[in-house]
Amino acid sequence: MQLRLSAAAAAAVVVISSLSLFLLPSTVDAHNITRILAKYPELSTFNHYLTVTQLAPEINRRETITVCAVDNGGMGDLLSKRLTIGAIRNVLELHVLLDYFDAKKLHQITDGTALAATMFQATGSAPGSSGFVNITELKGGKVGFSPEENGGVISAYFVKSIEAIPYNISVIQISTILPSPEAEAPAPEPSQMNLTALMSARGCKVFAEALLANPAEQTYESNLESGLTVFCPGDDAMKSFIPKFKNLTAAGKQSLLEYHATPIYQTLAGLRSNNGLTNTLATDGDKKYDFTVQNDGTGVTIKTKIVTAKIVKTLVDVNPLAIYQLDKVLMPPELFKAAASPTPAPAPAPEANAKPPKKHKSPPAPDAPSDSPADAPDGDVADQTANGAGAAARFTGAVILSLGFVFLQL
Ligand SMILES: *[C@@H]1O[C@H](CO)[C@@H](O)[C@H](O)[C@H]1NC(C)=O
Ligand SMILES: *[C@@H]1O[C@H](CO)[C@@H](O)[C@H](O)[C@H]1NC(C)=O
Ligand SMILES: *[C@@H]1O[C@H](CO)[C@@H](O)[C@H](O)[C@H]1NC(C)=O
Ligand SMILES: *[C@@H]1O[C@H](CO)[C@@H](O)[C@H](O)[C@H]1NC(C)=O
Ligand SMILES: *[C@@H]1O[C@H](CO)[C@@H](O)[C@H](O)[C@H]1NC(C)=O
Repeated sequence: MQLRLSAAAAAAVVVISSLSLFLLPSTVDAHNITRILAKYPELSTFNHYLTVTQLAPEINRRETITVCAVDNGGMGDLLSKRLTIGAIRNVLELHVLLDYFDAKKLHQITDGTALAATMFQATGSAPGSSGFVNITELKGGKVGFSPEENGGVISAYFVKSIEAIPYNISVIQISTILPSPEAEAPAPEPSQMNLTALMSARGCKVFAEALLANPAEQTYESNLESGLTVFCPGDDAMKSFIPKFKNLTAAGKQSLLEYHATPIYQTLAGLRSNNGLTNTLATDGDKKYDFTVQNDGTGVTIKTKIVTAKIVKTLVDVNPLAIYQLDKVLMPPELFKAAASPTPAPAPAPEANAKPPKKHKSPPAPDAPSDSPADAPDGDVADQTANGAGAAARFTGAVILSLGFVFLQL
């Protein structure tokens, strides 16, 4: 079983990396943890599991981090617990500190102790303080590591520095795996993950409720396994939009909601470096329902011909699901008329200009029933937008889920 999972996971990695190469052509990673660890045979099991759990690419795209590796014996102890791959991922995430600690810095910690947030904490899956690691300088130059939930009992010690690339990544070896009942707890089944509850709890309650009451929710669900990025308008934005929303036909409502998600998993870094037109769950044949992603300083904006919204917050970012909060509702030209503009509208991206959208219906009044995107049979939208990636993505999604990557808890 273990072997079959690994093989499947390797296949998933291949599919995913080719997908992301295709989708995010300009992303350049600062380092390659797989390559760094490959020089140390005694860390090969740890390295192998960074790949199997898909953590390696997550580590590569982050900067200012510290990876606390353990030797093959330490990994043996972890593996003997027969955890799910999802739980192993949680445990390994606890070994990635979101700050830079090389040997020198470890021995010069202010006041001799520090609390480091970890990737386990950053995924939002760590309850309470369990995503933090306490680092303490001890007598005789020793440095101890302890998960915060461990009640101050030091469980692992700094062994040696493996590689240091200031201040991008430090790889160190510690004596044993950090014990964490929370991280080791079995990840919830995918079926237990509740997209709308997740959004509700984190600032997009009004949008989540609209989604719950609409068939669009099924479109979201059916993309959850193969990759989904949701751009949910925050509660204030959505509240003031409700009168316009209520004015739409049933089909229009569905399209509007489906317009707020893309059928692929996109990181913030990916969005930032991947400007251009993006299809959405509402895209279906000549119903373009696309928008333009544009970086704006360090931020990211989403432009339709009618509004420019900003990503204000990352609610969830755990492959294959990302949820970002927007400051505005995205209004597609398919459903809303662009305001007759004496003030120049924000300039659309070049691609958007190249082909003026051919409106299949004029005027694109919200009430026009034949404008209805829901003319498409249920499920079609998701299938079409998933595109060539379809079968592969579905397979990948299944593998990912079987690996237990979705372990979000509320
Ligand atoms: C650190 O990361 C930055 C940004 O990715 C990169 O430009 C730089 O070359 C990296 N530094 C080293 C020493 O690799
Ligand atoms: C990282 O290094 C490994 C081993 O050398 C290689 O197989 C992999 O393709 C590299 N990943 C990236 C993103 O360059
Ligand atoms: C880390 O743990 C030690 C030992 O229990 C404790 O004295 C220290 O205050 C903790 N450090 C932080 C930053 O919480
Ligand atoms: C998700 O949670 C909402 C409440 O936020 C509930 O109404 C809905 O039935 C749940 N969905 C599933 C699939 O459990
Ligand atoms: C609702 O639609 C009607 C008719 O198209 C329009 O006159 C009205 O302004 C719309 N209301 C809102 C809030 O958009």
